[in-house]
Amino acid sequence: MKFNLADYLSTLDNQVFGKQILYIPETKSTNDDIWNHFVDNDHLIVVTDKQTAGRGQRGNRWISKEYQSLTFSIGLLDDKKNSDLLSLKCAIAISNAIKKITGIPVSTKWPNDILIKNKKVAGILIESKVNNNRRILNMGIGINVNLNIDDIDRELKDKMTSLKVETRQDFSRELILSECIKSIDSLLYKNNQFIITEWTKLCAHNNSELIFHDFNNKIIKGKFMGVDKKGRAIIVSNGETNYYFNGVIKL
Ligand code: BTN
Repeated sequence: MKFNLADYLSTLDNQVFGKQILYIPETKSTNDDIWNHFVDNDHLIVVTDKQTAGRGQRGNRWISKEYQSLTFSIGLLDDKKNSDLLSLKCAIAISNAIKKITGIPVSTKWPNDILIKNKKVAGILIESKVNNNRRILNMGIGINVNLNIDDIDRELKDKMTSLKVETRQDFSRELILSECIKSIDSLLYKNNQFIITEWTKLCAHNNSELIFHDFNNKIIKGKFMGVDKKGRAIIVSNGETNYYFNGVIKL
């Protein structure tokens, strides 16, 4: 079914964030649409039914399914407070929304994957640009909502899942979007310690021994000790503590 803007708007609370929304039935990437349409419209959201060239982290593709996936992006002006730990804020918000609507337990994998039973159900891609001395943030979010098991690529079946695969139920994309927006709205100006505490509660691998691929693809065996106030992963390996802005955790 097509995304229903009226349904979405009717489930928002009395808030400013969330009302400015552009529905584009088919597009290459909603992140590109934010770059094309964001002018002064702070908090602009773009949502689509069909994304044909979705971008993921580290140059990967993000595959979604027409009408079944929730794919959207949010444009935001960086006011120096809202951008702190932004990817953790988004990950908490999506986890809260999924938990609220489906009732199933969700966890996070650093830096910004959302998992159900250690399989990825949602991802976040944050981009930014500076325009006239203002930094614009672009938060792209993809959630596998009503995909069937056959909609997931064969080679990804042991790594990816959807809300439908986990529950055998269909969910309203409009409701999930409005819960995500309400939750992001409530988290944007929370202090860093609150965000770190909430994110750590959700983390699937806190205090765990794991394999970590750093930015240069160097493989590190170590213990994940949480995130610091900049959102960096703290990893202890061979008695040495290192802090990483980027990298991939292998669970
Ligand atoms: C990841 O690799 O985990 C990040 C995936 C982000 C996908 C979303 S879908 C909406 C937005 N548009 C894009 O092209 N990418 C993001």
